[in-house]
Parts: sequence; C-alpha cells; structure tokens
Amino acid sequence: MKPLFITFEGPEGAGKSTCILSVAARLGVPVLVTREPGAGEFGRKVRTLLLEEGELCPETELMLFLADRANHVQNIIRPKLAAGEIVLCDRHADSTLVYQGYGRGLDKEFLRSANRFATQGLVPDITFLFDIDPEIGLRRVAARSGANRLDREPLEFHQRVRQGFLEIARLEPERFVVLDATQSPVELSDQVFDTIQQFGK
Ligand code: TMP
Repeated sequence: MKPLFITFEGPEGAGKSTCILSVAARLGVPVLVTREPGAGEFGRKVRTLLLEEGELCPETELMLFLADRANHVQNIIRPKLAAGEIVLCDRHADSTLVYQGYGRGLDKEFLRSANRFATQGLVPDITFLFDIDPEIGLRRVAARSGANRLDREPLEFHQRVRQGFLEIARLEPERFVVLDATQSPVELSDQVFDTIQQFGK
C-alpha cells in the first residue's frame, strides 16, 4: 500500500478515536496513529495549555493549534510519510477552519492561509468526517471522560461546528468521505477500512 495521510474529523463524541485504533490494527502495514493537538512531547504540552487552561482568547487559541500543527507536520508526519508509512491523524487543519472559523468566528480565508503556512502545503489524501448531532456526541463525552475546555462551549457553538464540517466537506467532495457516526463501531470501521484499501491500491 502506498503512503497515505488520512485525517479524521468531526464534532465531539463521534467515535473517531475508537475507529482509528480498530482500523490501524486491521491494516497490517506500518501505521502511525497520531492526533492534534497532542503528538510528541511538545504537542502534549500544547494540548494541556489548550484544553485545560482557563480563559484563552480566540487568537491565542488559534496560534497554539497552529504551533502544534507546524511542529507535528514537520517533525512527525512528514518523516513517517517519507518512510512509506500510513498516517492516521485524529483531527488536523479542518478542525481549525471549523472550530476557530465557524465556531469562534475568526476570518476563514485567514485561517485557510494560516493552515497552509503551518502545514507547508501538506493536504490529507482522505479525510473521514464523522458526522453526529452534537447533542448525542456531547452526551457520549460527558458519560466517558468529562468535558474539556472546548466541550464546555454552548450547544450552539457545537451546532455551528457540525454545520461547518458539512459545508467544507461539500466544497471538497474528492477528499472528504462523510460517515453517519451513529452507526455501530464495527460498521464505521468497515467503511473506513474498505475506503483506505481501495485508495491505497
Ligand atoms: P479531542 O482531541 O479530544 O477531540 O479535543 C480536541 C479539541 O480541540 C476539540 O474540541 C476540537 C478542538 N480543536 C480546535 O478547536 N481546533 C483545532 O485546530 C484542533 C486540532 C482541535
């Protein structure tokens, strides 16, 4: 299978992380499972700042996500792709466009260009959008692990996020695969696995 950069996006509690682990175990080739924010030592520190600290203004929040992404792409993702591996990444640039753009109201064209800067132009080969009603997703998060700083935003914020993801998926149908995340974990894993197998031939 050729090296692929595959991202998983969607509102909170959509089941991305569980699916990534199950698909990684099934692929049978070298796979890097990673996430944003939070990969590597630098990423872990930035994740703590982003998700556990009290108040952050939207601009500070944005720059921390971008700092994490730039470091992640240059020091972790690109070397793995160059070594021929498949990279499965839980959230990436689309989360910035959607959470900071549709959610926080920052300028979307600026965010697109900031993402290009942070990724040095790296774009995923496939992006799976796990679509879910935020009321269902947030209930799952609360039951599982308790909410982080962004989970605690009001429901309207999460509804804008969901609509934002659906809108950007419509703009790039060749990259996005939209999945109904209310399906069972097995059904989701099968769909993701089959799509990757097809794409990687
Ligand atoms: P998660 O890894 O548990 O999904 O938490 C990450 C949170 O950070 C989630 O609420 C989405 C949010 N986020 C952004 O707001 N912008 C970003 O660029 C990224 C990667 C995540």
